[in-house]
Amino acid sequence: MPNDLEPLTELAVYSFQNALQLCVEEHACCDYHRIWSLARLANPIGPNLAGWQFLHRQLAILTDTQPSPRVLISGAADTGLLSLVLAGLKDSHANAQIILVDRCATPVRQNEQLCEKLNADAQFYVADILNFDGEPVDVILAHSFLNFFDPAERGDLFANWARLLNPNGKILLSNRIEQQPGVKLDPPSCADLESRLNVLKKVANTLELNDVDQKSLIDAAKRCRSKELTSKPAFTDLELGEIVRSTGLQLQSLSLHEQSARKGKGPLATAYSDQGKRAEIVQQRVRVD
Ligand SMILES: C[S@@+](CC[C@H](N)C(=O)[O-])C[C@H]1O[C@@H](n2cnc3c(N)ncnc32)[C@H](O)[C@@H]1O
Repeated sequence: MPNDLEPLTELAVYSFQNALQLCVEEHACCDYHRIWSLARLANPIGPNLAGWQFLHRQLAILTDTQPSPRVLISGAADTGLLSLVLAGLKDSHANAQIILVDRCATPVRQNEQLCEKLNADAQFYVADILNFDGEPVDVILAHSFLNFFDPAERGDLFANWARLLNPNGKILLSNRIEQQPGVKLDPPSCADLESRLNVLKKVANTLELNDVDQKSLIDAAKRCRSKELTSKPAFTDLELGEIVRSTGLQLQSLSLHEQSARKGKGPLATAYSDQGKRAEIVQQRVRVD
């Protein structure tokens, strides 16, 4: 990951200021896209995405065998996933082609600017991944993306991902997984929420946001938090099994991790139930000769 937070700070401010114009009302993503990058800066354990080591390992495996892999990033709330991919590919000699798809222009424009700043190359699409079409790719990465879809839509999502993959291509996922459908997520206590919002306020102070912006940042964070707690049904073990059966994708590996310690989580960190875990999943489209 980039050690220098300067470009991330500038891009976080860009999204905070421009999401109001760029986000589409129908997607109801404006609060989220305004504040997600600022929340990432406020994360006490740094801006790395949870599970970045898993994704780096998988990218290393990919570039060991493929001289010019096509890598599709599916959904990017901010620059976190693209930064991770660029850092993961930096030391390989592969000439990877990166494609980033998000249905909202805010993160897409933000990521375009990241590439300009880092002198990196990628193709960007403002498009719905459920019907996105393009040249086949060798790997698809998604992070905390499944929570944005109902179970029925997730079936369509995996079917389209499978269609976009080259034979032997892989899907790499880091996502919350629950053992039961319909579990209740653990809301933070008032004190916990307050302390998380205080961390966000500190970032706002450091960036010298005016009082109106500070208030709208905190209000948006509270709305995001309560929206998440009533969000789409969680992805479950059972659903993963069904998806593997219905798409013909092969489950290559599944590892489960306890959610990080509360103190290490940023102001908008994903809520989990008591039993919820973060799953690292590798699925492969098997070659049929
Ligand atoms: C990748 S995820 C969440 C990222 C994550 N929480 C993190 O830690 O970076 C959220 C993104 O998915 C995008 N999204 C939601 N539904 C989509 C769809 N049908 N097609 C493409 N992008 C979509 C949203 O616009 C948002 O930017």
